[in-house]
Amino acid sequence: MNNIDTYTKFFFTFENPTFVALIVSVLVIGTVIFVFIKVIFPLQKSFVTAQHKHLLEKAELMALFAEMDPDPLIRIDSQGLIIHTNEASKKIFPDIVQEKKNIDEILPDLMNRTNFGEVPSIEKVDERIYSVLVRPQLDNSFTNIYMHDITQIKNYEYTLETYKSRLKSFAERLDSENEQLKKTLSSELHDNIGQLLILVKLKLANMEKHHASEIELDVDSVYHKIREISKNLRPLEFKDERLKMAMQTLVQTVSVNSQIAGSFDFLGEDVVTDPKIGLCIYRVVQEALNNIMKHSGATEFSVQIGNYSDKINVVVSDNGIGIPNEYYSSKEFKNYGTGLFSMKERIENLGGNIKINSFPQEGTTLFIEFYKRG
Ligand SMILES: Nc1ncnc2c1ncn2[C@@H]1O[C@H](COP(=O)(O)OP(=O)(O)O)[C@@H](O)[C@H]1O
Ligand SMILES: [Mg+2]
Repeated sequence: MNNIDTYTKFFFTFENPTFVALIVSVLVIGTVIFVFIKVIFPLQKSFVTAQHKHLLEKAELMALFAEMDPDPLIRIDSQGLIIHTNEASKKIFPDIVQEKKNIDEILPDLMNRTNFGEVPSIEKVDERIYSVLVRPQLDNSFTNIYMHDITQIKNYEYTLETYKSRLKSFAERLDSENEQLKKTLSSELHDNIGQLLILVKLKLANMEKHHASEIELDVDSVYHKIREISKNLRPLEFKDERLKMAMQTLVQTVSVNSQIAGSFDFLGEDVVTDPKIGLCIYRVVQEALNNIMKHSGATEFSVQIGNYSDKINVVVSDNGIGIPNEYYSSKEFKNYGTGLFSMKERIENLGGNIKINSFPQEGTTLFIEFYKRG
């Protein structure tokens, strides 16, 4: 008993190294715990909170960007139910929010695709074309659907393609017209001038006095033929009063050949000063009259030219069947046929404009005008 007492007393004295070690350990552990509780934990907590806040701000910022994005963004859950949409998507799908819709209802073909992600699909909504990218989250909790309006790009592509094919057909036409010209020239030279020269040669071989005057006549014929060919090769010029006269002849010839009653009026000044506009008007009216003969089934047509101090206008009208819808549209230039297309090109290249009015079974009217400068 005494021994235990003595040991206990001794144990709790600083002479006992075990007791000292114990106290020191308790103090160290206490300090460590204190430091953890008072310093490390709060620091860690504030770090996590800051990080969380940062993420939250980032998410809010992204949401704001998505909201402001001019392109539609739709978020769906794993069942395809729409859970979030930005303003742009509300504009193209107005009832998207009120009724809890499934993505199948607004973009039916989209979810049948297998290759989501990198390859966007092309979807049409109300005449507009969208490239649509589907991005599922890694954990499949939701899927973002990004839509980008590419209508304008597609339209440009389409117009470009149309231009390309027009250009090709123009080039082909130019080629064939060139060929035709060569053929005409060659046959004129062969059949006419060639023959005349052979005759001259034969007569020279049997030269007798009285043949001299015949040869003179033949040489005259050759000379006239050559002048005729050269005249036909000269570009046409339609200025001064020549436009009026040439138009008069054209309308008459068409009227006689086609048995369609045609009338021609020329109002204002007789003199047209700009030969380019003169030629353009002649060519355009020529094509319009070709179309009337070929397609309209009309019984009457009229050509009217008004040449005033500030502008010159042309109206070509028929009472035929009208231009079918696929060719006729006063706004959509891409639907014009080659003849109508080149008409428009010619006129617009010289700063003029053309408008077409056409009604089934009532007829077609072309209005063309050029404003004079200065
Ligand atoms: N005056 C018209 N009346 C009825 N249809 C017309 C008339 N002008 C043009 N069309 C129609 O428009 C089409 C396009 O005309 P156009 O561009 O001149 O080409 P093309 O005469 O070579 O067919 C024609 O094929 C025809 O169907
Ligand atoms: Mg034509």
